[in-house]
Amino acid sequence: MKSPHPIIFLIIFFIIDSNAAKPASSIVFTTLGRSRYAFDIFSLPITTTGTEIQLTDGNSVNFNGYFASGNPISNPTTVHTQPTHLVYVTERNGSSSIYLDSVYDAGMDRTRKRSVLEAELTRSQHRLVGGSSGRISMKDRPSLVGDYLVYVSTHEETGVGRTSWAAVYSTQLSTGLTRRLTPQGVADFSPAVSPSGLWTAVASSGEDGWGGEVEELNTDIYVFLTRDGSSRVKVVEHGGWPSWVDDSTFFFHRKSDDGWWSVYKAVLPQKKPFTVNSVVTQRVTPAGLHSFTPAASVTKKNIIAVATRRANSDYRHIELYDIVSGTFKDLTRSVAPRAHHYNPFMSPDSSRVGYHKCRGSGSNKKMITNDMFLENIHTPKSGISLFRIDGSFPSFSPDGNQIAYVGLPGLYVVNSDGSDHREIAPDITAFSTAWNPARKGVVYTSIGPTFASVATDVDIYAVEVDTDEPTFTKLTFGGQNNAFPSVSPDGKYIVFRSGRSGHKNLYIMSALGEKDGLTQLTNGPWTDTMCNWSPDGDHIAFASDRHNPGSGSFALYMVHPNGTGLQQLIHSGSLGRTNHPWFSPDGKSVVFTSDYAGVSAEPISNPHHYQPYGDIFTMKLDGSELTRLTHNSYEDGTPCWGPKFMKPKDVEWPVGKEKCSFDDCTFLDIKSNSHGDEKIQCGG
Ligand SMILES: *[C@@H]1O[C@H](CO)[C@@H](O)[C@H](O)[C@H]1NC(C)=O
Ligand SMILES: *[C@@H]1O[C@H](CO)[C@@H](O)[C@H](O)[C@H]1NC(C)=O
Repeated sequence: MKSPHPIIFLIIFFIIDSNAAKPASSIVFTTLGRSRYAFDIFSLPITTTGTEIQLTDGNSVNFNGYFASGNPISNPTTVHTQPTHLVYVTERNGSSSIYLDSVYDAGMDRTRKRSVLEAELTRSQHRLVGGSSGRISMKDRPSLVGDYLVYVSTHEETGVGRTSWAAVYSTQLSTGLTRRLTPQGVADFSPAVSPSGLWTAVASSGEDGWGGEVEELNTDIYVFLTRDGSSRVKVVEHGGWPSWVDDSTFFFHRKSDDGWWSVYKAVLPQKKPFTVNSVVTQRVTPAGLHSFTPAASVTKKNIIAVATRRANSDYRHIELYDIVSGTFKDLTRSVAPRAHHYNPFMSPDSSRVGYHKCRGSGSNKKMITNDMFLENIHTPKSGISLFRIDGSFPSFSPDGNQIAYVGLPGLYVVNSDGSDHREIAPDITAFSTAWNPARKGVVYTSIGPTFASVATDVDIYAVEVDTDEPTFTKLTFGGQNNAFPSVSPDGKYIVFRSGRSGHKNLYIMSALGEKDGLTQLTNGPWTDTMCNWSPDGDHIAFASDRHNPGSGSFALYMVHPNGTGLQQLIHSGSLGRTNHPWFSPDGKSVVFTSDYAGVSAEPISNPHHYQPYGDIFTMKLDGSELTRLTHNSYEDGTPCWGPKFMKPKDVEWPVGKEKCSFDDCTFLDIKSNSHGDEKIQCGG
């Protein structure tokens, strides 16, 4: 046998070498409630009480649908009744894309026998834009006009902190040609195309940028030509989620001065160009309940579908509202009273309303009890395996083989492949976790309430997790909000934050406890917190509001353990929030959560997230290579970075509770007041 050519050896050498230059690692983070989403798109007829039909596949997370009047991709001849063409957002492998499904759903034709219908239910799926083939980005709110898909995407970085990357694009499906319709420097959400396709209306943060609001974005509505984004003009001050009736009329929502979210109607003048002063707006839905995310009907102009929150319900439901008679009609409450229903849309003939909700939730259908415990997220960063975990404050053991996390409540340890899940203390109110790099099986955590004042009873404990009975050793005393422990690489010291001086500052103590040695690292009338010790021992990264104490604005800083060399790592902008830094295993980068990319969708169109602007980023310590790892409209936080490449594979687990147990936006909550029957809003 001839020996291989030397060049082959050379090539192999280079491949191995380039791998060695980029050590593989994993980042794990958390997203509030997200592991319990199981959204599918359903529809109900608007006229009589009819059967609810599930339009999407029951596998992915599918939402924000749009009924297309035709399918520009293919036009298969079929013996079935006319299929439903549904355009929608779908999350697969952790990132979103837009699909078009042709659903040959005999349910649209209820004249045949049910068993036959179910056997004939088929679906063909086409990916239109996004997904693992291209760059990672969020896609949202699609509409299809002829051959053009109009949608939101976050694939273009703004380069400016606290500005949203959400912009509206159109893609010609036959050519793949994509055009940005939103001007540079502006963020647009919730696009809606007029019935003729001529105009697109958007909720826009305008040139003023994002003020940090999440309960209501304070967007204005702009209209522009769908063709190329030209003739852009502001038509409504303060409004979002437009939906067109005809080419000069649309509905939108806003939070009214009386505190109720309500639907409004805007009529554009015949004479162009129009201005915000020439547009007539009028409130449509009454006070006394929240009505939002309207869907207009182009054939029944008096009827809109809306999502509502009523005083007697904790659930978001889809209702019809007749503008002329001023009456509501329940749609989804009778089908699934105890489930949230989101973002209605009308079929072109106005015979059906579509919406999304959790499959199998709140109805007598089978309860889904499996959660995504570790969800692999595709990432553009080579050598990094990215996961969302169904828990908070994860941290890797020194060898990367185990993950400790808290369940709020509870402290848990699991192998990083999802196996051998162990309840260390399922009932304790612990937050933050950190392993000792030099002592095997020792995890540190802080026990007590989160987001509490300096005097709150929170102390740090060392927990031996490998013993049969986990042992807890208290390391700090006095309970003055001692939290966020992180251990030096030699395992001898712990940096933590404490409120003992009257302000939350950083301290370093012996890993055996503060009685064996304690020094104050930072000192000032502000908050230093969420500290992380670098693998080379030379730096401590932390979050602080020292640039604007008490403002709620946090930036990332770094300091040497001897207290010198303080520097700011990143500040997303005035009033910005950047938190939870964690060093990479090679010590050259940090991962963190930040509002650097603003919000990516109107928060009211989603389940509740306290901080829906949080996305996961990495950057080099010198400030270069700022990289956005997550693109979504959820609250992503508490990332950690471990030394082992986790196999990019989802891990599901049974949780024994209904999958869709997450909150609706708490700012929609309505509570009884002290006078009994009269209802007022929370904080209203
Ligand atoms: C998800 O990722 C897996 C593995 O990378 C791949 O085989 C699969 O096609 C992806 N699914 C979608 C819908 O992109
Ligand atoms: C402080 O620590 C850093 C590295 O951790 C070192 O470079 C510096 O010389 C030290 N300064 C003093 C005053 O000890």
